[in-house]
Amino acid sequence: MNTPSAVRWHDGKLELLDQRKLPAVVTYLEIKDLRGGWEAINTMAVRGAPAIGIAAGYTLVVAMAGEDPNLEAEPQQFLARLDQHAHYLASARPTAVNLSWAVRRICERAKRSPTLRAIRDEAQIIHEEDRAICRAIGDYGRRLIEPGNGVLTHCNAGALAASELGTATAPMYLNHQQGMSFRVYVDETRPLLQGARLTAWELSEAGMDVTLICDNMAATLMAEGKIDLVIVGTDRVTRNGDVVNKIGTLNLAILCAHYDIPFYVACPSSSYDPETEFGHEVVIEERDPSEVLGENAARVAVRNPAFDVTPANLVTAIITDRGIAQPPLAAALERLLMENST
Ligand code: MRU
Repeated sequence: MNTPSAVRWHDGKLELLDQRKLPAVVTYLEIKDLRGGWEAINTMAVRGAPAIGIAAGYTLVVAMAGEDPNLEAEPQQFLARLDQHAHYLASARPTAVNLSWAVRRICERAKRSPTLRAIRDEAQIIHEEDRAICRAIGDYGRRLIEPGNGVLTHCNAGALAASELGTATAPMYLNHQQGMSFRVYVDETRPLLQGARLTAWELSEAGMDVTLICDNMAATLMAEGKIDLVIVGTDRVTRNGDVVNKIGTLNLAILCAHYDIPFYVACPSSSYDPETEFGHEVVIEERDPSEVLGENAARVAVRNPAFDVTPANLVTAIITDRGIAQPPLAAALERLLMENST
């Protein structure tokens, strides 16, 4: 499928689609060192939980490639340096578990084989696995959409946030590819407009029937009977099934409960965090006030939490790459994602 690539890796070169400029300008940033990768994640040139993890894996490869080539001859020093870089990179954004998950994977691989080649292989495996994960989410989730449905999505959990099919969008891409006709409602997703700038762009480029709405219009569309289901992505699902995702997700889940509309979450196994019991334990990133103020707001105090926590009891089901978890979610997630996990 012809979807935009958020992360490109070829011949040892890491390139990230600069999502801050989309859709007006389509341009790739080359990441040449650790600081460049940290900044790209922190300033959201690359964003979306799986894409952040993939970019972080490759950034560690670039960072280690920039070290003294003799370091490989000293395994303990190689590991110590990698560990230092990994710690720093993981601090770029706190909420999506994929970032710490990916750097941990790279470090674990290096412990078994402390070479540049081994960590490069691992970064590529993480990337390849994500493609397969997105496809599996699409295969499981596609039957939730029926011809003629109105599907509402929030933020961007698409190709730009992961690879190829995205997560929340994978069922949409696969059904669209099969010729099914349905309408996708995309909310703007204040303050950074990932819905308006990114999701609306990538889905309309793919030829889907897309309608953009402001965040505060969802209830009205639901009351009008236009929304048959909601599918969102997630930055982290905790052990009990709470869903941490872009600010505004909780609003939609509450509206869905009121209007009796199914509320689905697409969760790759890389975003499941069984080590954290409840959503309220997750650090929620608070971003700069300027994102909310823009140019026209009065200069007052601002709150800008980038994510919220939707309690498990408001979630109809979680679409994972290993099947659909139905309530009770904690048990279903454990069965699907922890048993037989690789
Ligand atoms: O702040 P962002 O744009 O990185 O937030 C992205 C989201 O909240 C996505 O829904 C989530 O990361 C899932 S992406 C498959």
